[in-house]
Amino acid sequence: DTTRLANFLKARIRTVPDWPIAGVNFRDVTTLFNDPEAFRVMIEAFSLDCTQLGVDVIAAIDARGFIIGGALSYQLHKPFVLVRKKGKLPYTTHTEDYALEYGTASIQINTDACAPGQRVLLVDDLIATGGTLLAAAKLFAKVEAEVVGVAAIIDLPELGGSAKLREAGLPVHSLCSFS
Ligand code: PRP
Ligand code: ADE
Repeated sequence: DTTRLANFLKARIRTVPDWPIAGVNFRDVTTLFNDPEAFRVMIEAFSLDCTQLGVDVIAAIDARGFIIGGALSYQLHKPFVLVRKKGKLPYTTHTEDYALEYGTASIQINTDACAPGQRVLLVDDLIATGGTLLAAAKLFAKVEAEVVGVAAIIDLPELGGSAKLREAGLPVHSLCSFS
C-alpha cells in the first residue's frame, strides 16, 4: 500500500543538512537510484499512474528527473522529452524563468518537443516550491500540449508547491513526503 511504499522509500533517502545553503535539509535521491529494488518500485508506481492518466509523452526535468523519466519512458514505450536548464538545447526553444527554494533559474524545451493535444506527464525527483514544475507546465502550454499530471518521488508539502500545482489544475502524484 501507499504508506508502506512511502516508508520504504523514505528509509532509503539520504538527508544532507545545510546543503546547498544553511537551513536547507537536502533530500538526496542518489541513494534511491543506487538501490535497484527501490528504483524498480518507483518506476512501477509511476507506470501505474501513467496508465491511469492515459499519458502519451513523458517529460522530465534536468537533471535528476531524467533518471526517473528515462526509465519510465523505456518501461511504457512512450516518447521522452527533455526539459533542460537554459542554454543546453541546440535547436530552437521556448523558455520560462522561475524562482527556486534557493535562487532563480530558467528552463527550456525544444519548439518541436511534442504535438498539440498530446497528453504529457511531467516528472521530477522532488517538489519544493513547485516553481520548476509550474514553469515546465507553462512551456508545454506554449506548444499546446496537455499536461495531465506531475509525478515526483518526494513532496515537501510545507513549502506549498504541491498545493500550488493542484490549484493550477495539475494532479500531483508523489510517492512520499517530508515535513
Ligand atoms: C531541484 C529538484 C527540482 C527542484 C524543485 O532541482 O530536482 O527540480 O529543485 O524545486 P521547486 O519545487 O522549488 O521548483 P535544482 O533546481 O536544485 O537543480 P539541479 O537538478 O541542478 O540540482
Ligand atoms: N530542491 C529544492 N529543495 C530541495 C530539497 N530540500 N532537497 C532536495 N532538492 C531540493
